[in-house]
Amino acid sequence: MYPWYDYSRRLSPLKLAVFVALFVPAAWVAVALGMGWLGARPLNEAIHQIGLWTIRFIFIALAITPLRAILQWQRLILVRRMVGVAAFAYACAHLSLYMVDQAFDLAKIATEIAVRIYLTIGFTAVLGLTALAATSTDGMVRRLGRRWQQLHRVVYAIAALAVIHFWMQSKLEIWEPTIMAGVLVWLFGYRLLARFVAVRGRAPLPWVGALGIAAALLTAGGEALFFRLSYGVDPVRVLDANLSLATGIRPAVVVLALGLAVTLAGVARNWVAPIASRSGSRERGGATARP
Ligand code: HEM
Repeated sequence: MYPWYDYSRRLSPLKLAVFVALFVPAAWVAVALGMGWLGARPLNEAIHQIGLWTIRFIFIALAITPLRAILQWQRLILVRRMVGVAAFAYACAHLSLYMVDQAFDLAKIATEIAVRIYLTIGFTAVLGLTALAATSTDGMVRRLGRRWQQLHRVVYAIAALAVIHFWMQSKLEIWEPTIMAGVLVWLFGYRLLARFVAVRGRAPLPWVGALGIAAALLTAGGEALFFRLSYGVDPVRVLDANLSLATGIRPAVVVLALGLAVTLAGVARNWVAPIASRSGSRERGGATARP
């Protein structure tokens, strides 16, 4: 079955659009590499660009279940597997570009992965993604049954490893990895809400709003702790920076904006189609959904 068909074998515009969109970053990097647009160290820049899209796709795949529940957009689940497999493909491309950069010197590559801790962590994440991709077919979902869901929870650990890898190689430029860490806190938090306070698989929106604020506070605290431990910077100065634009928009502010945007989107969705008027059976969260 083509990836742009839904389960009833009809063309799904959503699946088709996502399928095409997933190729765009790789195509852009390939063209830019070929045209010499990637600066003085093109291969290194390509590694960075593809690495960024790998982690973004992991996070998009993770966000689909909460967004589906909050926005009451059931068909979103149709693209989760596709995005997850794309994350795996980008991770392979990222690793392959690294191998090209090392002139396929396999002994050196293996040694580097063994001794450079950020590479060891990245490689572990790739192994995890490989296991998830290998078990993502309909046949494997059926064969593994409940164990499939248990196995696929590993994606949270993979996302955490990816953030650590990103963070460690970023040195001082930790703006985006800090945002990723904050979003991961939100995603973990939503999972807890879905488990303990959800009604028909959907966390109540006041809780979702509170989660956005909590994730932002933890992001600000984490950033302050990082600068304190790494550079001895007074944490109050880092926390204060969140209240002004003097040092640009801080990661915690971005995490807060994302959390509140999702909450408001949920409010708007409720307003357009009140949850009470919808069928209860269709409101189940991702726990029982097909990949
Ligand atoms: C799921 C697994 C992985 C993810 C999500 C990932 C993601 C990333 C990200 C986001 C960056 C930084 C991009 C930027 O700052 O613009 C990066 C850099 C990098 N990654 Fe990965 N990566 C993964 C696995 C690996 C593996 C297995 C290797 C090699 C063994 C690797 C080698 C590198 C290298 C060499 C850099 C650039 C470091 C530098 O220029 O100092 N990554 N990766």
